[in-house]
Amino acid sequence: MKLLITGGAGFIGSHVVRLFVTKYPEYQIYNLDALTYAGNLANLSDIEKAPNYTFIKGDITDAKFLVDMFTELSFDGVIHLAAESHVDRSITDPMSFVMTNVVGTVNLLNAAKDSWAAEGMAPNFEGKRFYHVSTDEVFGSLHNPEDFFTEETAYDPQSPYSASKAASDHFVRAYGNTYKLPVVLSNCSNNYGPNHFPEKLIPLMIHNIQTNKPLPIYGKGENVRDWLFVVDHARAIDAVFHKGKQGETYNIGGFNEWKNIDIVNLLCQIMDRKLGRPEGTSAQLITYVTDRAGHDLRYAIDAHKIMNNLGWQPSLQFEEGLEKTVDWFLTNQDWLNNVTSGAYQRYYQGMYTDR
Ligand code: NAD
Ligand code: TYD
Repeated sequence: MKLLITGGAGFIGSHVVRLFVTKYPEYQIYNLDALTYAGNLANLSDIEKAPNYTFIKGDITDAKFLVDMFTELSFDGVIHLAAESHVDRSITDPMSFVMTNVVGTVNLLNAAKDSWAAEGMAPNFEGKRFYHVSTDEVFGSLHNPEDFFTEETAYDPQSPYSASKAASDHFVRAYGNTYKLPVVLSNCSNNYGPNHFPEKLIPLMIHNIQTNKPLPIYGKGENVRDWLFVVDHARAIDAVFHKGKQGETYNIGGFNEWKNIDIVNLLCQIMDRKLGRPEGTSAQLITYVTDRAGHDLRYAIDAHKIMNNLGWQPSLQFEEGLEKTVDWFLTNQDWLNNVTSGAYQRYYQGMYTDR
């Protein structure tokens, strides 16, 4: 199996690449990543020399580059994670989300469809698979406490980020329907864990607690997210890629809802203990700030379909996962320093050939 994973130098992608490279030594894994601010090859330093792993620097907004690459390498499968992923950035710069998440995804669909057709695989594309990794944010915000997002919930995206992911999901399904491209999709809740870029809630709070900076809580901190350890998401992606039914969608989540303020308080307690600070010290850094524009109130996933049909379930309790995550950030201080200073991008320049 020749497998293309896009966005493999990012947070979730790096865990997916590691899992596939180590679990399937018989596969050839190609990691295509543009190395934007969020892409960091240090996330993969432990497997970068594996014989079944190749890194390709390239941009999914470049349609010709994708066609050439697909023609040359003749992939059997694609797991598509490359994206602009941060809601706050999408509010200040929506167009880059349209370009990467919508145009980039359609470029990738076209390259797969056309190169697979040229190989004589049309009309059914037997043995091929295009897997699109998406988010629960496409469903919008839940207001009734008993409600959960299911695979049947209507799309209602509220931020430029979620609107761009919703559009890309629609295009993937449209290519499945119109061109019979063998697609499968998943929509996952908020991830946390090692390699998480420190612009997102959990790593930002860990970094700010450690460096005694204010902990910015948007609004009243009462917004709810459903959190899943990133390695459990990678395991779910493995299950969907190998066992998911063609044309179907799987919701992935941890049945693990937390208000933002409760997570930040828990992180403060964990960090006080680990840093040897008197209890209550870090919580004094909590600062309520202006709310995010259009801030979704609550996300919660009903993950019964993937659990019942594909036998997946989360392996880690949140408190255990959070301890592991804090330990990872405290023992990988260089990673955090490099990311926050931008040094990681300069370091890797010149270490690969641009295609
Ligand atoms: P990330 O921002 O950490 O990583 C994105 C990666 O994509 C980076 O390595 C970046 O360099 C690469 N990339 C960006 N633009 C590119 C382009 N034009 N061409 C090629 N590569 C490009 O994101 P993440 O949090 O790891 O999310 C990965 C995927 O999972 C995204 O599609 C996201 O929508 C989805 N997702 C994320 C979460 C979450 O909690 N983070 C939850 C559910 C779904
Ligand atoms: P984030 O990690 O950006 O993920 P998403 O917006 O995709 O869910 O934010 C998680 C929650 O934390 C969200 O409700 C916004 C909130 N938040 C803060 O209160 N302060 C912050 O500094 C950040 C980055 C997020």
